Amino acid sequence: MSIPLSERVSTLRPTAVNSILAEVRAVTTPVVSLMRGEPDLKTPAHIVEAAQRALANGRTGYADNRGEIKLREAVASKLARENSVRYDPASEILITPGATFGIHIALSAMLNPGDHVLVPDPVYDAYLSPIRLAGAEPRAVASSIVDGRFTISLESLEAARTPQTKAMLLNTPWNPTGTVFTRAELEAIGDFCIRNNITLIADEIYEAIVYDGNVHISPPALSDELRARSVLINALSKTYAMTGWRVGYVAAPAAFVQAMFLILQQSSRGPATFVQDAAAVALNGPQDCVAEMRAEYTKRRALVLSELREQGALSPEGGFFAMVDARSLGVSSNEIRRRLLTEFGVVVVHGAAYGPGGEGTLRVSFAAGGATLEEGLRRVKAGLIAIAQ
Ligand SMILES: Cc1ncc(COP(=O)(O)O)c(C=O)c1O
Repeated sequence: MSIPLSERVSTLRPTAVNSILAEVRAVTTPVVSLMRGEPDLKTPAHIVEAAQRALANGRTGYADNRGEIKLREAVASKLARENSVRYDPASEILITPGATFGIHIALSAMLNPGDHVLVPDPVYDAYLSPIRLAGAEPRAVASSIVDGRFTISLESLEAARTPQTKAMLLNTPWNPTGTVFTRAELEAIGDFCIRNNITLIADEIYEAIVYDGNVHISPPALSDELRARSVLINALSKTYAMTGWRVGYVAAPAAFVQAMFLILQQSSRGPATFVQDAAAVALNGPQDCVAEMRAEYTKRRALVLSELREQGALSPEGGFFAMVDARSLGVSSNEIRRRLLTEFGVVVVHGAAYGPGGEGTLRVSFAAGGATLEEGLRRVKAGLIAIAQ
């Protein structure tokens, strides 16, 4: 006798990272991990102190379920200042426990069974289950590597579109590929969405981590027409090394925020009150800590590129992952990943875990640095050289 499961839950799969972790646990020798998107940097001290102060001041009761107004105002100011897009903190912003929950309520609030959602291929794989949980189907938008950079074309968007297509999930900077979409690319995607009555869900969680003068552009900032059909998702997780704090936000037109609010109110009720106080301090306070972290990732990225250039490392424009193009080895990415784990003791993610568009590539994370990164890169390099022979 077992507890019966819903049909919807039977469509869910563990994320790539979770599946690989199960394999890693079975390896008995020590391994080095270049797998996770988890910064090894500490949350800046002034943010930690703000949480401590809030706790000491008894900020431990229920939060406003929309998010504390001070934090919503801090988000509105940040979006106006950094992203050139205006949202009303009273009605157009909702505070969520991380970006993951924001994505979940955005999808749940708009999808009906049978709807289709366009996702880039390769895709951040945790997008797929919340689409299926809402009874809808993801549709992969094929990408290609042009001049060492993953990109998606208007033709591939058109090829993936169906009459049931209701939304597109876009991630810029794009995990896992490292592409920061240019203004022209985003305008083309935005026009496509407007022409075809498609809602654009923009996950901007890596916005602060961009390199070489690449600029993050927030799609809803492109035009009022696009803003009207966009849902902006973000979190403090990566920008301030706050992955475990579980705090993020969604911004969208008021009627849609109200629908997401109904779901949030009756599920999570949002992040802890003292966490929200600290998040407001993070957004309103000095941003030197963000610049320092970006400088650190810039150094790590340079190390990855110098170590793995000959093995096919592609230069990421943003985020803290580098894709290694190992297609010339003629071995599946999953097989390469397994051999790197079992023979060389290093963990990366195979590109195919993110969809057929990732086949032949490996995702190497430099969210962890120092000795982990140096030793991990040494092992990846030795492994790829051995596999090539
Ligand atoms: C593209 C993308 N969106 C969302 C998330 C999850 O964000 P959060 O921890 O704020 O839920 C991640 C984490 O790896 C990510 O890579």
